[in-house]
Amino acid sequence: VTLQSPVETAHHFWKTLLTAGDTVIDATCGNGKDTLILSKLVAPTGKVYAIDIQQEALDRTQLLLSEHLTPQERLQITLLHQSHVTFPHADNVKLIVYNLGYLPRGDKTLTTQTSTTLISLSKALDLIPAGGAISITCYPGHPEGAREEEAILKLVTALPSHLWNVCYHEWINRLLSPSLILVQKRAS
Ligand SMILES: C[S@@+](CC[C@H](N)C(=O)[O-])C[C@H]1O[C@@H](n2cnc3c(N)ncnc32)[C@H](O)[C@@H]1O
Repeated sequence: VTLQSPVETAHHFWKTLLTAGDTVIDATCGNGKDTLILSKLVAPTGKVYAIDIQQEALDRTQLLLSEHLTPQERLQITLLHQSHVTFPHADNVKLIVYNLGYLPRGDKTLTTQTSTTLISLSKALDLIPAGGAISITCYPGHPEGAREEEAILKLVTALPSHLWNVCYHEWINRLLSPSLILVQKRAS
């Protein structure tokens, strides 16, 4: 067994949580890698909503999906050009995924912002049913990412433990490593 990076740990968690037919939201679809992984995990009947504020990101996601999925499989995926401060109307969302920061090979100034991430996260907490989860990959290696991680940690650390399980994963001997925050609503 190889000890996994926070990003791989996130993928592993999604794999154990999700089953075919689940509904998921990718709140920051970027280049679409996470959207593709999520789509395969909930196929063929699960629904995937992929959100990004940049048309460029949605175009890249669309291209990646068309290279790896059939047109039939892609019918289950909805790409949304909007901020994740608003979520689509969807029932029983099993997992909401954030991969924060900026679009790799894109405009680094269009990074996720602490204030909007916190608004989105509080809506995500309202949306998630018992047993569902939120997966957040943070990049504290850049200044806004460090502020963002700190603010998120403050919010999720305060969640009551009889309702939520919250865990934080980081590579403590690697400077500038991404980190992973997993939040799961406990089954009642
Ligand atoms: C690190 S990238 C995501 C990488 C992606 N998950 C992948 O697998 O390729 C972060 C993305 O968040 C997007 N973003 C920034 N602010 C946003 C917001 N308020 N709502 C939705 N997306 C946002 C950026 O445009 C960027 O594409």
